[in-house]
Amino acid sequence: MLLNLTILPGDGIGPEVTAQAVLVLQAAADAFGHQLRLQSKNIGGAALAAANDPLPPDTIQACLASSAVLMGAVGSPAFDHNPTHLRPEAGLLRLRRELGAFANLRPAVCFAALVDASPLRAQVVCGTDILIVRELLGGLYFGAPRSIEGTAGSRVAINTMRYGESEIERIARVAFELARKRRKKVLSVDKANVLECSRLWREVVTCVAKDYPDVKLAHQYVDSAAMLLVQRPTDFDVVLTENMFGDILSDQAGGVVGSLGLLASASIGGKVGLYEPVHGSAPDIAGKGIANPLGAILSAAMMLRHSFGLEPEAACIEKAVSSVLEEGYRTADLAGATGSAVSTSVMGQRVAEAVKVSRSLPQ
Ligand code: IPM
Ligand code: MG
Repeated sequence: MLLNLTILPGDGIGPEVTAQAVLVLQAAADAFGHQLRLQSKNIGGAALAAANDPLPPDTIQACLASSAVLMGAVGSPAFDHNPTHLRPEAGLLRLRRELGAFANLRPAVCFAALVDASPLRAQVVCGTDILIVRELLGGLYFGAPRSIEGTAGSRVAINTMRYGESEIERIARVAFELARKRRKKVLSVDKANVLECSRLWREVVTCVAKDYPDVKLAHQYVDSAAMLLVQRPTDFDVVLTENMFGDILSDQAGGVVGSLGLLASASIGGKVGLYEPVHGSAPDIAGKGIANPLGAILSAAMMLRHSFGLEPEAACIEKAVSSVLEEGYRTADLAGATGSAVSTSVMGQRVAEAVKVSRSLPQ
């Protein structure tokens, strides 16, 4: 198969981790007889620096003309004081919208080898396997009006949380469909005791659930879900939630399983799928060669699965990641104070090697 991809390295550690994801993808493509066609484009701060636009037209065109997009990260303190539309993050939000990527899948799995990397006790975290299904094109991120108005000292800021029934229904269906392939549980997370958006959310999700009688639906307020996520993470299967709650809970889930650096994501449902690690640009460690590339590598695996239907290839990369962790390789975020850590590129090379080795063994 020809895999026609746009690569968006972006800012901070984005280019470093993306390079390793591409290395592993190349190894998988070679091993399974696929051909990669890659073009790299600017997004975020890198694009602002080059063309004063966080999502230049040629980036959008390239993404729309490819079969999938692999992104690193956006965000740079250099643009912290820019107006909203000229911030690096605005480029990513526009890209998600241009691609129609309304469904953001964020798995948080506790790798057996990493039980001790979690701040939680082993018996609490062991076996955690969560899939956060985050609505990605609605809510506070995109609602209008939005502004900061007035004069210094008496300014007022406004954001709008807005959800339509059809937006809730389509993301709910994604969650229920995915739950069917897992442990058949959906936890819908909202704040229905306070927010109208959440009351509508709960109503629509409850209605959609009638089409999935084999899936068990429960509802939880977001504050209480946040607590349960650290108390009993193994109780969670599919978590269905709106944009902002999903952003917050997915970082928390990263902490639960040992490091945000491990978390991958797929943003799907539109014309072209977008794949990116959940961690941000981490400017404090950028360029040091210590970032964890596994979130980016696992995002590449999600791409093979969701955009190309290449399940054995995706599973091969995921198995390679597990086996490298079993062998004891750790980046700094996972190594703890006493353990020894490998660099970003050594971790990537180890995974690429493990992909090659697993394919050369008799199947
Ligand atoms: C994420 C990030 C983004 C988000 C930022 C960079 C806009 O935090 O993907 O979780 O809030 O969606
Ligand atoms: Mg986030």
